[in-house]
Amino acid sequence: MDLNKTIINSLSNQPIGVFDSGLGGLSILKTLKNKLPQEQFVYFGDTAHLPYGDKSEVTLKSYVTSIIRFLEKQNCKMIVVACNSAATVIKKIKYLPFRDYQIIEVITPIVELIAAQKKYQKIGVIGTRKTIGSGMFDRELSRINPNLDIISKATPLLAPMVEDGFVEKNVLFPIFKKYFEGFEDRELIIPACTHYSIIYNQIEQYFNNSLKVLHTPKIIAEKLDQVLLNQNLNNPDKTEKSDLFYLSDITKDFLRESVLFLDRDVDFKQVSL
Ligand code: DGL
Repeated sequence: MDLNKTIINSLSNQPIGVFDSGLGGLSILKTLKNKLPQEQFVYFGDTAHLPYGDKSEVTLKSYVTSIIRFLEKQNCKMIVVACNSAATVIKKIKYLPFRDYQIIEVITPIVELIAAQKKYQKIGVIGTRKTIGSGMFDRELSRINPNLDIISKATPLLAPMVEDGFVEKNVLFPIFKKYFEGFEDRELIIPACTHYSIIYNQIEQYFNNSLKVLHTPKIIAEKLDQVLLNQNLNNPDKTEKSDLFYLSDITKDFLRESVLFLDRDVDFKQVSL
């Protein structure tokens, strides 16, 4: 019997773990599910500890380590770090029970794609204080392509506003005015926060559609698909199992807000790590 083949086949049927500080990662999950309907997903939202965007590196590393161990116990074959703030620390955690290729975070695939393309030179990056303060986007983009002109700005009000449903133009535009000072000549904005997918259109409209907002969930879904195929980890048959959803704290507000990100109701279970 070919032992390697048996191990790989058994992994193929296992779920893919996706996590975020809260609910923003559900927008990534929605895109992953559309791209890979045959896969089963296990989602974890660390709602007891959000926001991640204001946490120290030490604290974030300990939260992320606990979540990854939880997803390992769920038998996940791959992990998608669907949170930019968490993505800034994942590679700094020494011992994780997964190989490098089994962990996809939301920063590296974006950086690799944008640094390689020639269309956009003037790039704006927005995200939480943690993501922007880490300097990861500026550093990695410039390392691969030193010719890029990059401006990054922390936009910490936007994630809570999206969660609370404040997504109308008349509420957002005065805040954009302050945050987007200096962005007038940008050709592309990288929304480096999983909550922002809800307001891509509003950002483009603020700039009268003179720039593009990068649709990051699609890029992460492409990357996941590619890694699953390359590693022979893709589920060849449509899974019979339903996706599972866990939160570290459940409130009525979270349940209401989750519909905004996922476009449907799901049955969340509470789990303390
Ligand atoms: N999901 C987080 C991120 O992508 C934003 C929300 C938070 O600060 O927890 O960085």
